[in-house]
Amino acid sequence: MRCCLSLGSGIIFMSISMTTIAADSLTRAQIIENNTNPVGQVNVAGASAQAAAAAAAANAPLTGEQLYKKDCAFCHDNGTAGAPKYGDKNSWAPHLAKGADVLKEHALKGFKAMPAKGLCPQCSDEDTIAALDYMLKSVQ
Ligand code: HEC
Repeated sequence: MRCCLSLGSGIIFMSISMTTIAADSLTRAQIIENNTNPVGQVNVAGASAQAAAAAAAANAPLTGEQLYKKDCAFCHDNGTAGAPKYGDKNSWAPHLAKGADVLKEHALKGFKAMPAKGLCPQCSDEDTIAALDYMLKSVQ
């Protein structure tokens, strides 16, 4: 019986120390959690800073090239619906003959199958003309 009693108390001791370890690791988990919270908050702040930067970039003025690609390329890259093609002097020749002022006006107000502002009514006149200038440079 003596041997078994001491074995028994050994098991009890082991289970106590395991409980202590378990309690210890729980504390560590809490410490880790507490420590990561502020980091998480910093990350959230970083994410919103990124979002703000993206929004600022979205509000930044686009170049003529970007505007062309956004609003005009759909038709003018491939001559869709008979649109004069980007970089194709022949298809632009009869249009260029009208003069820059007429082309600007038609870009802004539309002309036959050419929709006003290339279907971007919210675009400013300046943006539409910047896109037009980019397109016209390709055939000069
Ligand atoms: C939905 C298709 C479409 C989009 C988008 C489009 N165009 Fe056009 N565009 C045309 C067509 C078709 C013509 C040929 C019209 C004609 O002369 O019959 C044309 C012609 C033109 C002309 C010549 C007009 C003239 O009097 O000869 C200009 C300038 C022009 N487009 C500018 C632009 C600009 C700048 C954009 C982008 C902001 C744009 N287009 C977007 C279809 C489009």
